[in-house]
Amino acid sequence: MNADHPADLVRDVARRRTFAIISHPDAGKTTLTEKLLLFGGAILMAGTVKARKSARHATSDWMEVEKQRGISVTSSVMQFEYDAHTINLLDTPGHQDFSEDTYRVLTAVDAAVMVIDAAKGVEAQTIKLLEVCRLRATPIITFVNKMDREVREPLALLEEIESVLRIDCAPVTWPIGMGKSFRGVFDLRHDRLVRFTPGEERRAEDTELIEGLANPRLDALYPGEMAALRHDVDLIRSASSPFELAEFLAGRQSPVFFGSGINNFGVQEILRALVEWAPPPQSRDGTARMVAPTEAPFTGFVFKIQANMDPRHRDRIAFFRVCSGRYVPAMKVQHQRMGRELKLSNVMTFMANERVQSEDAVAGDIIGIHNHGQLQIGDTLTEGEALQFKGIPYFAPELFRVARPRDPFKAKQLQKGLQQLGEEGAIQVFETAVGNTLLLGAVGQLQFEVVAARLAAEYKVDAIYDDAGIATARWLTYPDEKVRRDFERDRAASLATDVDGNPVYLAPNRFNLQVAMERWPQVGFHATREHGQRVAHAAPA
Ligand code: G4P
Repeated sequence: MNADHPADLVRDVARRRTFAIISHPDAGKTTLTEKLLLFGGAILMAGTVKARKSARHATSDWMEVEKQRGISVTSSVMQFEYDAHTINLLDTPGHQDFSEDTYRVLTAVDAAVMVIDAAKGVEAQTIKLLEVCRLRATPIITFVNKMDREVREPLALLEEIESVLRIDCAPVTWPIGMGKSFRGVFDLRHDRLVRFTPGEERRAEDTELIEGLANPRLDALYPGEMAALRHDVDLIRSASSPFELAEFLAGRQSPVFFGSGINNFGVQEILRALVEWAPPPQSRDGTARMVAPTEAPFTGFVFKIQANMDPRHRDRIAFFRVCSGRYVPAMKVQHQRMGRELKLSNVMTFMANERVQSEDAVAGDIIGIHNHGQLQIGDTLTEGEALQFKGIPYFAPELFRVARPRDPFKAKQLQKGLQQLGEEGAIQVFETAVGNTLLLGAVGQLQFEVVAARLAAEYKVDAIYDDAGIATARWLTYPDEKVRRDFERDRAASLATDVDGNPVYLAPNRFNLQVAMERWPQVGFHATREHGQRVAHAAPA
């Protein structure tokens, strides 16, 4: 494409919507993904995404790992057109493959759709993911799913979302009945009833709308139910917050939709909300300055690395979020961390069902850059300016293993492999101060399996992974050298350094961490740290 006029870039950026779906396993993320693609015209028949998911369930653990290493590449990002907008839907790996990638993907989106199972309410993983969204005040659209089942009272659900997730809810639709007597939703903004008709595979073009709450047709259709509905709608209109775009964009209020993904019901409304309300790409903090998405020079950052199909060549795909300018094939960019030029050839765009050579990408788009390890998570590429995009954090791991090679002569190889996988961001690697033991830290179990498989395939090291007896980690900062020395003397057995040499506290349990923090109020204990940046070190005393 040849569109170098500034107005073209402004127009193209304004058309972008980049989002992820967050949910607890089984709430209906896969189903909603599929239905969004269906309504977006990216697939013709439901079943594509789902088939992929069930194939995954049916295969062995090894295949699961294989998938993580490469085969799932195409489903990591799905781009499609809807209503003159280019939508980028980023998959957040969930389920048993919950990993740091799940968190990092959320740093690359401008909005999120939160799926809640109406029978279960707010669940553990949703809480974690929402906390990550909150770090960047990401606007959240809520979809309360499975209304075709016997579920919890909608009001109680809203209260739970508000209190547990600490976000103001603004219902946009209100459900009428549930389970077998689910009739549809009342659209509070347009004052009309959207009638529920079960449907599975294809998109329904014929959703029936009944205008006005006082409409006698409603009494004819649902005699005996209308008094309660009118009462509910009056109540919800007076008791709940009205939707306010500014509050939503600030991440303080979430518009709530009720529906049933499997029945295609309420899906179109989510797409409309994304197009009408979700923000286009915003300015990003490039450390030296804020970078606007409509600036002509090309910039962006790597938020995820995926080892590719052929592990022998250690080739990888770096998932790169464009932050400004326009990607043109074979362009040359400056790799900020390495301080050298990089030619962007063999770059891919991920469509719903396939990957294609990228021809054109602007802010909000995700491109996949083939590389042999030059690109790490958090790396910034620009056309020359010294920038470093912020906001791609490492999260304190919750699972720890000690790795040792089965063959003691492979210790060096193990160390090298772990160092590289740690730098790449596949796993976090710590070295204890006492004994120089290498520890692996992860937020999800599958990360260990992936690392074990990759160490075996790429570094030829068969290792044993023992539980490390550690519950959590914190990055440390000190106000001065004296505090550092005193603390290190007091807590030597709990100290380690991460792959970039930052000091880390390893706690065998939460209580230990709490005690350490209480005893050492001058020491900073941090649950996250930025990729590509060292923790600020204390000035010498
Ligand atoms: P996930 O990706 O969040 O894990 O959820 P997924 O979409 O796979 O949905 C989990 C289960 O919930 C699936 O059932 C799916 O069919 C069902 N589901 C999704 N949306 C709705 C809905 O609106 N209503 C109802 N009643 N069920 C819904 P499953 O039994 O695990 O799989 P399958 O047998 O349907 O393939």
